[in-house]
Amino acid sequence: MKVQFLNLRKQILKIDKKIYSSIKKNIRKSQFINGSDVINFEKEFSKYLNVKYCLGVGNGTDALEIAIKTLKLNKNSEVIVPANTWISTAEAVVNNCLNLKFVDIDETHNICLKDFKKKISNKTKAVIVVHLYGNPAKVDQIYKICKNKNIKIIEDCAQSHGAEFRGIKTSTFGDISTFSFFPSKNLGSFGDGGCVVTNNKKYYFSAKKIANHGGLKKNSHLVIGRNSRLDNIQAGILRIKLKQLDKWIFKRQKQANLYYKLLSGIKQIEFVKTNKNTKSSFHLFVIRTKKRNQLKNFLAQKGIETSIHYPKTLPELQVFKKHFNYCKTMKAIKLNKQILSLPIGEHLQKNEIAYVCKNIKIFYNV
Ligand SMILES: Cc1ncc(COP(=O)(O)O)c(C=O)c1O
Repeated sequence: MKVQFLNLRKQILKIDKKIYSSIKKNIRKSQFINGSDVINFEKEFSKYLNVKYCLGVGNGTDALEIAIKTLKLNKNSEVIVPANTWISTAEAVVNNCLNLKFVDIDETHNICLKDFKKKISNKTKAVIVVHLYGNPAKVDQIYKICKNKNIKIIEDCAQSHGAEFRGIKTSTFGDISTFSFFPSKNLGSFGDGGCVVTNNKKYYFSAKKIANHGGLKKNSHLVIGRNSRLDNIQAGILRIKLKQLDKWIFKRQKQANLYYKLLSGIKQIEFVKTNKNTKSSFHLFVIRTKKRNQLKNFLAQKGIETSIHYPKTLPELQVFKKHFNYCKTMKAIKLNKQILSLPIGEHLQKNEIAYVCKNIKIFYNV
């Protein structure tokens, strides 16, 4: 049996006709930039999240850069970022000419509160909370810490579309939040895409200006901005996919429960912890094991694709080497050597998850 890590063709089999006709409609109307699908998607996605404003942009990295710029932080400000996330989260800080500070993670693979408190200095002006793997971070406690110190919160929800903390969707706790619609995300377009969301009207219009060459109208350039837009064809696709999102997340949750059930007896395996009262969107299903590389190779021989998110923590990367010294003893680095992402997603059936678990059990001889 072959178990694929990802198969986007399979994901859309039941909705592909709708998608093709949406693409055709936009080509016929020649509506490529700022069309009605963008406006409607922004409305529909903000309604889904229960957030006031949504701004479509070019991708999740742009969304982060624009969100940070929107906050207008002073030049020497420090922004705290978890040590294990996709590089964009940290890149966006550096590209805004701000100072980066890495914080350790806990067993949820999200920000460790204890280390967060230690890392805060009088220069700390913002934190980027990543809900890694779709697993919501402790937003309530992070909020409490930040509120007293006037630290802005940016939620990086690139992996957490539809994930919930106490029944509330991630992206609604911070001052401003960002999403990626990279094709493999739980809600993905057929190319690049992203958005910035906020409940703050001032931030929304400021982000809109930055993303549109510094102005809200044609030929108006009030600040130095950039060009970052979600195009109309992608927005049309996202509108169709958004209607499936909760169903897809539910399927992922059922698959995750099957993994928990079938793998829970294996002492050599640990699961990424979830916080109480949270609903992970299981963008990824990650386990930890000391024999990570051996298990990965064994599963590959059995036709099972796995992945690692991410092979190195950010302070271990050459570009961030000046941070390595204060990060070298971090739990993030230790846990990172043990992580393995197992296949999960709309393209898979129950028997395929069972096949993965059967082979993990064979590997461990249990
Ligand atoms: C946590 C995180 N932040 C930001 C991004 C950047 O998104 P994009 O690839 O759309 O620029 C990603 C994408 O993988 C991500 O996983």
